[in-house]
Amino acid sequence: MTKVLKIGGSILTDKTRDNAARRDEISRVAQEIAARPEDLVLVHGAGSFGHFPAKRYGLPLCFSPEGLRVTHASVARLNDLVVKALSRAGVDSLPVHPLSCILLSNGRIDSFALEPLKAMLKDGLMPVLHGDVAMDATRKAGIVSGDQLVTFLARALQAEVVAVGCDVDGVLLSGRPLSEITRVDLPAIECAIGESAGVDVTGGMRGKLQELLNLADTGIDSVIFNAARRGNIVCALRGESIGTRVWRPN
Ligand SMILES: Nc1ncnc2c1ncn2[C@@H]1O[C@H](COP(=O)(O)OP(=O)(O)O)[C@@H](O)[C@H]1O
Ligand SMILES: [Mg+2]
Repeated sequence: MTKVLKIGGSILTDKTRDNAARRDEISRVAQEIAARPEDLVLVHGAGSFGHFPAKRYGLPLCFSPEGLRVTHASVARLNDLVVKALSRAGVDSLPVHPLSCILLSNGRIDSFALEPLKAMLKDGLMPVLHGDVAMDATRKAGIVSGDQLVTFLARALQAEVVAVGCDVDGVLLSGRPLSEITRVDLPAIECAIGESAGVDVTGGMRGKLQELLNLADTGIDSVIFNAARRGNIVCALRGESIGTRVWRPN
C-alpha cells in the first residue's frame, strides 16, 4: 500500500525569510514519519529555499541559467537537511531531485523516470523529493511544485494514502476548516481561497487545491491537514480523515 506524504515548505522553513530552515520542526517531522515509514514516498515543499531565489531570478517566466543553478542548489540543501533528519530518526531515505528525473511540458510533468524511485521503495528506502526547477520541453525551464509532484506520484503509484501537510488546519472558510471539498463546491468558495501568506510562486492554497481536485477527478482522494500540530502526521499516514478531505463523489 503506497503512501504519498507532502510536508509543506511552510512547516520546514520560515517562508517570510530567505533560506530560513526550521531545524526543530524538520527533526520533529522526521520523528513523526519514523513512527510509520513503510511504503512511503515523501515530498517536501521548497519553502523559502526555493521561492525566494525563484522570485529573485524571475523564474519561471525568465530563463536564467544562474537562477536555475542557484535555486536548485538551494532546494537541494533543504532536501539534505530533511534526509539527514530522517536518518537521525532511524529512517533510511534517499534524495530524489526532480531536476534530474523529470521533463515538463508547458509547466506540467511530461515524463518522470520512476524506476529508481520504485526500486528504492522495493528495497525499503524512502524516496524524498522536493519542489524544484526543471527543464521544460516547451518553455526551456520551469518550476515543479511539491503539490504537482504529489498528484503525479499518487496517480503513477496508485497511492492509497495521499496526505498534504501545511501550516493551516485545511481549506479554511471564514477561518474554519472545511471537512471536505469536491469540485462542485469550488465556485461557491473560490473567492475565499488564496495565495500563500509567505512567498510562494506556485499558488499557495489555491494551487494546492487545484492539484488535488485534478487528482480527485482520477478517483484518488487526499487530505490537506495541519502538519504543525504534533501527532497529525501519524494520523494522516494511518489514512485517517483529518483536515479537509478532497474527493470526487461517484
Ligand atoms: N482559504 C484558505 N484556506 C487555507 N489556507 C489559505 C486559504 N487562502 C489562502 N491560504 C494560504 O495558503 C497557505 C498554504 O499554502 P502554502 O503557503 O503554499 O503552503 P505550503 O508551503 O505547505 O505549500 C496558508 O498558510 C494560507 O496562508
Ligand atoms: Mg505551496
